Amino acid sequence: MDPKHRIEELTQLLNQANHEYYVNANSVMSDFDFDQLLKELEVLEKQFPEWASDHSPTKRVGGDITKKFESVAHRFPMLSLSNTYSIQELTDFYERVVKTLGEDADLVAELKYDGVAISIQYENGFLKRALTRGDGEFGEDVTANVKTIGSIPLKLRGAFPSDFEIRGEIFMPREVFNELNQRRQEQGEALLANPRNTAAGTLKLQDSAVVAQRKLDSFLYGFYSIEMPFQSHTQSLEMCREWGFKTPLIHPTYLAKSKGLSGILDFINYWDQARYELPFDIDGVVIKVDRFDHQKALGFTAKSPRWAVAYKFTSQKVKTRLLSIDYQVGRTGAITPVANLEPVLLGGTTVRRASLHNADQIRKLDLHYSDYVYVEKGGEIIPKIVGVEVAERISSTESVEFIDHCPVCQTKLVKEEGLAQHLCPNADGCMPQIKGRIIHFISRKAMGIEGIGEETVEALVDKGLVKNAADLYDLNKEDLLSLERFGEKSADNLLAGLQESKTIPFERTLFALGIKMVGETVAKKLARHFGSIQALATASFEDLVHIHEIGDRIAESVIQFFANPENREMIRRLEQAGLIFERNETEVIAGSQKLSQLSFVISGVFETFDRDELKTIIERNGGEVKSGVSKNVNYLLAGSGVGPTKLEKAKALGVALVSESEFKQLMDLS
Ligand code: IVH
Repeated sequence: MDPKHRIEELTQLLNQANHEYYVNANSVMSDFDFDQLLKELEVLEKQFPEWASDHSPTKRVGGDITKKFESVAHRFPMLSLSNTYSIQELTDFYERVVKTLGEDADLVAELKYDGVAISIQYENGFLKRALTRGDGEFGEDVTANVKTIGSIPLKLRGAFPSDFEIRGEIFMPREVFNELNQRRQEQGEALLANPRNTAAGTLKLQDSAVVAQRKLDSFLYGFYSIEMPFQSHTQSLEMCREWGFKTPLIHPTYLAKSKGLSGILDFINYWDQARYELPFDIDGVVIKVDRFDHQKALGFTAKSPRWAVAYKFTSQKVKTRLLSIDYQVGRTGAITPVANLEPVLLGGTTVRRASLHNADQIRKLDLHYSDYVYVEKGGEIIPKIVGVEVAERISSTESVEFIDHCPVCQTKLVKEEGLAQHLCPNADGCMPQIKGRIIHFISRKAMGIEGIGEETVEALVDKGLVKNAADLYDLNKEDLLSLERFGEKSADNLLAGLQESKTIPFERTLFALGIKMVGETVAKKLARHFGSIQALATASFEDLVHIHEIGDRIAESVIQFFANPENREMIRRLEQAGLIFERNETEVIAGSQKLSQLSFVISGVFETFDRDELKTIIERNGGEVKSGVSKNVNYLLAGSGVGPTKLEKAKALGVALVSESEFKQLMDLS
C-alpha cells in the first residue's frame, strides 16, 4: 500500500481504538498492538511530512509548548448557572418555567461535573481551538493541552455541521489524582488539594507532553452554533455522541429525563448518596429544560439561562462530640492524630473516628476537648473534621495541645522545618516503628511474602524473636511453632514464603527496606541508576541529587539510612540470606517486538541507563542499533552532549530525535 493510504488507514484505526477506549471504556486492541501501529504511523509521518496531519493520533502524546496562553474572544458568551440548595428553590424554578411557557416542560437532569469549563471549536470536523471560560467573554487558548485528552476527538465522524462549538467540563479522575498525590508523598512534596484544582493547573501547564501524562478526561454536553440543527438538548447529546464526543449519555444512570420534577428528585436523591462511588467528583446536579423552543422562550438573565439551574449538594456534614484523641505512630515515626467521636450516622455509615492530619490542623480548628465538631465525608474512606461549634463549647474545657512525647516509647518528639508531621526519633526502640518496618517489608508491593501477616509480625516481635527484617530469615520451624495458633502447615508456608522472596528483584527489595521518602517510584529510579546496594550505599549527596527528580530531602534520607550501622548490618545479613541486592538485566528488560523494523543511533550521556543498556533494551525489543546516522535510521536517541555532527545530520535527513525520557515512556520504563 502506498504510504499516503497507509497513513490514512492507520489514522482511522487508531482514532477508532482511541474512541472505544476513552469514550466507551472498551478495548478493541491490545496496548501492544496500539503502540505498534502508532509507532508505524509516527515513522511514516516523519518520512512523509507532507501527509502528516495536525490532527493525527500521534499528536496525543503532546510535545507542543505553549509559552503564553493567548486570550481569545468567545463567539458565544460562556455563562454560568444559578445555584439552588433546596428542593423548595427547585420547585420555585420549575413553577417559573411553567408560568412562562404556559405548559409543562420536559426536564433533563445531568451530573454537575466538578472540573474546569471548556469550549471547543470544530471546523470541518477537526478540532480547531479550545478555550477556558476566562471571564466568560474572553477565554485562554489551551488547544495544545486539550488535544492530549484521549476522550476529546481530534477528528469527528459522521455528518457533522461544518462549524460549531461544544462545551463541557474537563476533569481529573479521582484515581489519577490519588496516584499523583501518592507519588508526591513518596517524594516528600506538598500534596495537591483536590482533583478540580489539579485539573485546572494541569490545563495551564506549558508542556503538553506533561499534560498528556496526567490523564485528564472530559464530559461534553453543550452544543453551540448559529443554526441549531436539533429540536432538543437530548437530541443534541445523541448527535454529539455519534460524532465521537463523550457525553453524559455514555452511562444510562448519568442522565434522567422527566416530564415535570418528580423523576428529577429521584435522580438528585440517588446521586446525593451514590456520588462517592463515581470515579470522578461531582458537586451537584444540573437541571435543564429539554426542548430548544422552550429554552428560547425562557431566555437569559444577564448572567445565566432561565432554562437551567444547578442543584448543589451540600457536603454531607453532621455534628457530634469529640471524645478523645489517639496518636498513631507510623513506621517512619510520623505521628498522626485521630479523633474518637461519639458515634454518629453519616451518609449511611456510622462514624466513630475522624482524621485530624497533624498539629497545624488541630490549631487551625482551634479544637478543645469535648467540643462539638462537624464531620464531613469526602471521597476518602475516613471522614474529616471540618469545623467546631464554638457556641456549644463547655466553659471548663481546654484547647487540644499536641503531645510532645511519643505515646508509646515516651521519647521527646521532633518536628523538622518544613514538614507538617511530628516525628518520634526513636526508630530502633519504638515498637510501632519496629513492627511497622517489618510489616512494610513483607507487604504485597514490597517483598510480598506469603504466609505472614500483620498479626504474625506482631507476635514475632512481642516474643522477641524478630527485631528487624533480617531476623525473619533466621527463623526456624520451632520458633514458629512456639507461636499461638501456628501449626505445621502455617509454619511451612511462612518458611516457603521467605524462601520465595529471595527471587524478588533489587528495586523491590530496595523499596522493602523502608528508607524514608523512598517509595516505589524512587526505589526503581535508584535501583536503575546505581545497579547495586553497594553503589547506592556509597553514593554522595551530589551523586544522588544529580539524578533527575531526586531532591535534597530524598538524598539526605538515603545518606542517613546508610550512615546508620544497624541498617548496614541488617543489609549485610539480608544479603547473606540470599536476597537480591543487584540489578538483574534480563528481569528488568522484558522482550517484545515493539521496536521491530526500527533502527536507532545512540549518542550522548544518559541519566538512567548507560549506552550498553540502551542497546540491550532496543535489541531485546526487536529494534536495531546502528553506529552512524543515515536516511535508513529512524531515531537518534540523544542524551546530553549528543555529538554535533550526528545531530546536524539527523536534522538534515529528517531523522527523529528521541530524548531519554521519551524513550523510557515509549518503553514503559518509568
Ligand atoms: S450546563 C449556561 N451542565 O457548572 C451554562 N454545566 O455552575 C450551561 N457544569 O458553567 C452549563 N456539569 O462549567 C452544565 N452537566 C452540566 C454541568 C455543568 C458541570 C459546570 C459548567 C457550568 C457550571 C455552572
